[in-house]
Amino acid sequence: MSESTRPLDGRVALVTGASSGIGEATAIALAGAGAAVAIGARRRDRLDALAATLRDSGARVLQLDLDVTDEPACRASVDRTRSELGGLDILVNNAGVMLLGTIVGADTEDWRRMLNTNVLGLMYMTHAAIEGMVEQGSGDIVSISSVAGRQARKGAGVYNASKWAVNAFSESLRQEVTGRGVRVGLVEPGAVATELSSHITQPEAKQASQAMAAGMRTLQPEDIARAVLYLVTQPPHVAVNEMLVRPTDQER
Ligand SMILES: NC(=O)c1ccc[n+]([C@@H]2O[C@H](COP(=O)([O-])OP(=O)(O)OC[C@H]3O[C@@H](n4cnc5c(N)ncnc54)[C@H](OP(=O)(O)O)[C@@H]3O)[C@@H](O)[C@H]2O)c1
Repeated sequence: MSESTRPLDGRVALVTGASSGIGEATAIALAGAGAAVAIGARRRDRLDALAATLRDSGARVLQLDLDVTDEPACRASVDRTRSELGGLDILVNNAGVMLLGTIVGADTEDWRRMLNTNVLGLMYMTHAAIEGMVEQGSGDIVSISSVAGRQARKGAGVYNASKWAVNAFSESLRQEVTGRGVRVGLVEPGAVATELSSHITQPEAKQASQAMAAGMRTLQPEDIARAVLYLVTQPPHVAVNEMLVRPTDQER
């Protein structure tokens, strides 16, 4: 994109879970469109590499040690973004885990990890960011939900519940703040080629998830990054609230 036509020049974005997959691709896409970008996650080495790439391309970057399950860390990340990058216009709530498995026989530690990260972490980040956006009368909160937030499936119960919670929270927040100029949107991917399924602890569930992805032309992280970019580059009077993006080969 040429320097003079970049749609996000002068805007500041914060992306959670930027150390891999969709978050990394989204940070690159937002920076490519002119935004200064704060990148947060727990794996510092991965963020170091991304920060170097972004700086090489001329972007302003802030690297954040961020575990979204830690509420004070969420607030500190938002505060640092505002003080060091000069504001916060776009929050991309992307950090998440997908620990698929049956409910019968589940390790309930998987449930705590999913709900603490996908739901509470997203709520802490949103809570930390939203007041400033309301005060400035503009902003975008974009949350990465999932097809799993719209279709429940056997073997995905708690992941489904976590993404259902994201969708409900997002719609409630939308109604609360849209009249004050803040847009709230959801991007709901189908299968994307990332490391997400590598963390599944139930062997059968991991195998099934990876076999499903192997049987189709999955999305790439950049495909979802383009969807996020589409939401945040609309004119101020246009709010794209929900975007479901599946691989063409994915039936359900
Ligand atoms: N891949 C898919 O098929 C798919 C489909 C639908 C929705 N999604 C959603 O897309 C989002 C991104 O996933 P992905 O596919 O890109 O997988 P990924 O490559 O595994 O990325 C997940 C990201 O979340 C971060 N993360 C996890 N726990 C965190 C925590 N407690 N605090 C901060 N960051 C944390 C990870 O970074 P660290 O480990 O470095 O902290 C990583 O950067 C998730 O919300 C996922 O549910 C993915």
